[in-house]
This record gives sequence, C-alpha cells and structure tokens, in this order.
Amino acid sequence: MKVLVAHASRYGATQAIAERIADKLTEAGHEAQARPVEAVADLAGYQAFVIGSAVYFGKWLKEGTDFVRRNRASLAAGQPVWLFSSGPLGTQTTGANGRGVRAGAEPAEIAEFRESIHPGHHRVFLGALDPGKLGFRDRLIKALPAGRTLLPEGDFRAWAEIDTWANEIAHELAQAPIGRRAGEPTE
Ligand SMILES: Cc1cc2nc3c(=O)[nH]c(=O)nc-3n(C[C@H](O)[C@H](O)[C@H](O)COP(=O)(O)O)c2cc1C
Repeated sequence: MKVLVAHASRYGATQAIAERIADKLTEAGHEAQARPVEAVADLAGYQAFVIGSAVYFGKWLKEGTDFVRRNRASLAAGQPVWLFSSGPLGTQTTGANGRGVRAGAEPAEIAEFRESIHPGHHRVFLGALDPGKLGFRDRLIKALPAGRTLLPEGDFRAWAEIDTWANEIAHELAQAPIGRRAGEPTE
C-alpha cells in the first residue's frame, strides 16, 4: 500500500522518527514515503497516512496543524490515518501533577483531530533535544530555570517502541481493504 508519513519537525528529531516509521513500513512490504508536511502538495495517490509533529508549548507545530486542517476532507474520507507527537523529554514517567508524562503531553489539537478526521490511534513518543541546534528564542527559553527543569537535553527517543508501533500499522494495513479504516468491520 502507498503510505505517506508526513512530519512537522523544527530540529529533526521528529523527522527521524517519521523516516524510521517509513523504513519499517517499507521493510514490511508497503511503499512508504516520509515527507515534510510543507513538501506535500496533494494527498492523491496515497492509500494511508501517518502524520506526526513535534510538540512546543503544548501544541503541534503550526505547519503540522495547518496540514491536517487543510487536508481535512481527504483525511476524513475513509483511508486509514495514524497520528503521532514527539515531545516529552527525560526519563520520568510521572509529571508534577501526578499524571503520566505522556498522557499529560497530548497536544491541544489532538481532540480536534479525533473529531475531524477520526484517526486510528494517536501516539506520544519521547523526543530529543540537542541544545547546540536550538534557535535563538528556544535557547533563551531552555536557559530559564523552568526550561532547565522541564527541557532536559538528550535523546530520549525509544526506537524499539517506535518500531513496534510501525509494525502494528504495517499489520493493520495488510488486513485493511483499501478505502476502509483499519479495524472497521467489512460488512
Ligand atoms: C522551547 C521548547 C519547548 C518545548 N515544549 C514542549 C512541550 O510543551 N511539550 C513536550 O512534550 N515537549 C516540548 N518540547 C520538546 C520537543 O517537543 C522535543 O524536543 C521534540 O522531540 C523536538 O522535535 P523536533 O526536533 O522535530 O522539533 C519543547 C522543546 C523546546 C526546545
């Protein structure tokens, strides 16, 4: 199946996750392409979609949100769609509010996207932060006391978990008749 893995990434961490997912789908026999959202003019020709964005200040990057909103009609048309976010940093699993770090990191737009395009799943993956790559504004924020606490540097991406998710998608795609959402009954 021809699968688009579209990504919105500021410093490359999310792009690498998207490329890894596309590689795993390709290994499983699908024709998967990872593309920055800005480079995707048209969804025609793809039979399934995986869309991911980095999270900044609790939200998807604007280009990722704009991509979903702009293509809402096509994405809601019945072909399978999965979403992922790359965000939380560090090794703590519970935040200061007692909620799971990942549950608490679900970006604001996901509720809207669940309503508008009915994705199969949304998954939050741990992210990566390399202070040497940060732009001026993000470097200032990282240098604040709260930034030092909440934005630890390092690469926390859990590749085995990302591979497992990609393999689950490959499996669901192999089961799904074209034009029908994965998991939907055939009758
Ligand atoms: C200034 C700044 C703000 C961030 N805000 C959040 C946030 O609100 N929630 C979150 O989960 N991660 C946040 N992060 C972490 C990033 O989402 C993470 O580093 C991500 O993997 C970066 O992906 P990218 O390299 O593709 O842009 C923030 C990082 C920076 C530098």
